[in-house]
Amino acid sequence: MSNTSKVHDDVLSRAVRSGGERGTAIVEVDHIAKTYGSGAKMHEAVRDVAFDARPGEFLCVVGPSGCGKTTLLRCLSGLMPPTSGEVRLHGRAITSPPPQMGLVFQEYNRSLFPWMSVRRNVEQPLRKRLGKADRRTAVDEALAAVGLTGHEEKYPWQLSGGMQQRVAIARAIAYRPEILLMDEPFASVDAQTRIELEDLVLEVCATYGITILFVTHDIDEAVYLADRIVVLSPPPCVVKEIVTIDLPRPRDQIATKALAEYSELRKHVFEQIVGRH
Ligand SMILES: Nc1ncnc2c1ncn2[C@@H]1O[C@H](COP(=O)(O)OP(=O)(O)OP(=O)(O)O)[C@@H](O)[C@H]1O
Ligand SMILES: [Mg+2]
Repeated sequence: MSNTSKVHDDVLSRAVRSGGERGTAIVEVDHIAKTYGSGAKMHEAVRDVAFDARPGEFLCVVGPSGCGKTTLLRCLSGLMPPTSGEVRLHGRAITSPPPQMGLVFQEYNRSLFPWMSVRRNVEQPLRKRLGKADRRTAVDEALAAVGLTGHEEKYPWQLSGGMQQRVAIARAIAYRPEILLMDEPFASVDAQTRIELEDLVLEVCATYGITILFVTHDIDEAVYLADRIVVLSPPPCVVKEIVTIDLPRPRDQIATKALAEYSELRKHVFEQIVGRH
């Protein structure tokens, strides 16, 4: 057996083995399905998805375009009820967006209020939660964490796409969520910014101990970021496999991607998605 295939076998047997282990779950996705519409207009988007997320875990969900990832995330966040099955947070069914949950979507230009300054955008969800002084501290801290100190009084349209997405991330972390749901958050930024934002999210996740559910169709991104990857099938989606990514942390864009294990895991996930073995 060549060295590469030995690495392949070791990495993959460990990955698939531990993907099935059970730990204390913070979020349990219990066999959810979602069908839109009814009668002739019925469309089955999610067939059967089950997995759990453990506290502090970085869980990526990958699948081909149109397989039902956004639908799944909407069900997970309580924005939309599944047709069947249940999502539980700390053992309790989610029926509306829970206060412990933050959301970041792909369309940063639609998620920020253009008429509000950066400070007010980040502050907005905290208004009912914190007094003025505490809000100011929380906003300053979150903007510092995403490298936007000094841009507080600017408006979203005065910022680059990457900076706007940083504001969206700052807004999510200022809220101190236990869980952060992200739907292809870096899909519309350039490659360089994407790399910076990936590392920013890893840092934020580690610093604040946030559990992250991160949807992407980018296999490289998923392997780089995740503790585990939930691989979805073509639509209507089911879980094909849950792969453990036990690459060392902290991750590094160059060193991590140079590891033989990284390439093997990437290849494995790719094969799962395109259906080639
Ligand atoms: N509100 C809706 N009503 C009816 N069908 C919908 C609705 N939202 C999504 N769909 C359909 O459900 C399927 C899954 O869509 P979804 O957006 O969840 O996929 P996705 O994996 O997020 O896609 P992408 O990779 O393009 O982001 C698609 O066929 C889509 O057209
Ligand atoms: Mg989507």
